[in-house]
Amino acid sequence: MNILVTGGAGYIGSHTCVELLQAGHKVIIADNFSNSKSQVLQAIEAITGKKPVFYQIDVADYKALKQLFCENDIDGAIHFAGYKAVGESVQKPLSYYQNNFCTALTLAQVMQEEGVFRLVFSSSATVYGIDNPIPYKEEYPTGAVNPYGRTKVMIEQMLTDLAASDRRWSIALLRYFNPIGAHPSGLLGEDPNGIPNNLLPYIAKVAAGQLPHLNVFGDDYDTRDGTGVRDYLHVVDLAEGHLAAMDYMMEHNGVEAVNLGTGQGSSVIEVLHAFEQACGKQLPYQIAPRRPGDIGEYYAHPGKAERLFGWKAKRSLQQMCADSWRYTCRQNNL
Ligand code: NAD
Ligand code: UD1
Repeated sequence: MNILVTGGAGYIGSHTCVELLQAGHKVIIADNFSNSKSQVLQAIEAITGKKPVFYQIDVADYKALKQLFCENDIDGAIHFAGYKAVGESVQKPLSYYQNNFCTALTLAQVMQEEGVFRLVFSSSATVYGIDNPIPYKEEYPTGAVNPYGRTKVMIEQMLTDLAASDRRWSIALLRYFNPIGAHPSGLLGEDPNGIPNNLLPYIAKVAAGQLPHLNVFGDDYDTRDGTGVRDYLHVVDLAEGHLAAMDYMMEHNGVEAVNLGTGQGSSVIEVLHAFEQACGKQLPYQIAPRRPGDIGEYYAHPGKAERLFGWKAKRSLQQMCADSWRYTCRQNNL
């Protein structure tokens, strides 16, 4: 199939492009490099031996997207393009509503006009808000607590309305838990600019000697060691989940919200220890105050993905840390 991957130069998108190319699909990437670099395209080619078609465009640019569809016989789209930093979304809500919502709206509009009805959307566990019991199940009510999360809830609602309006649509709303790790080749991974907000990139920078210690945000949660618990999944497992979703959508119409997680929670201290094993050294940490807005513990109920898509995350926390460390070493010539 010919698959459009918006945001395909980004962290999750690039790993998904690799899996799509390796499975024999043709990949057309649309990305404006607002949070990625052109070298990623070479890395995808180096891993797969295949060159994706690339358009450097803003996905919210109707004319540019329309031209892409006219020049390629697209069978389906995976929509990763968007902004994802929660803190920044509180500072710049309009930029988040504009970029996240308008890219999704424009893509859906052009797809409808061009008669392409298969769409996978990158949603997030953040749509479960703060009031649902764990493990999170897809049928729980949604309700986000920050502008980033609200863009995801709004887009899920828009796409649900769209699927209800025309039976030809097949839409998967994939709710990712905490993707970490890197491609085992060490050529692709996550390397945010500046001081990372998220746990794994932060630990990787401590291990690389670029930050002095990890701040553990709270050790008094009601969890097994008092630190926050999350459902970390390997980015390659996540990428494979998109292929499984696409296969399912070939044969089913309608809209489905589906969790992509392992169903297992790991604490901050457990992740730190797993990374220490991967890099072979002790990593310094300090207990810091809780991060505002954080929840103590959440993880996925992963059954629906297995039932519908036949997909299950396979890779261990140890493997996630080992792959992440390999990528960090390569990036920093360690
Ligand atoms: P990323 O920032 O690495 O990738 C997003 C890509 O989209 C980047 O390459 C960026 O340049 C591109 N982009 C952004 N706006 C664009 C626009 N208007 N036009 C064209 N390209 C644009 O992020 P990621 O971690 O790969 O996340 C991908 C998607 O998954 C996002 O929608 C994110 O909200 C969602 N998600 C991510 C996580 C996570 O932990 N990484 C968790 C849940 C959901
Ligand atoms: C983040 C996003 C969330 C997104 C999710 C999945 C925020 C506030 N939320 O949540 O919207 O859906 O990723 O990718 O960014 N921690 C530390 N020290 C650090 C960094 C993190 O102790 O320096 C702790 C956190 O308190 C948390 C855990 O590590 O307990 C994971 O944090 P993080 O990687 O930011 O992910 P989430 O909080 O799950």
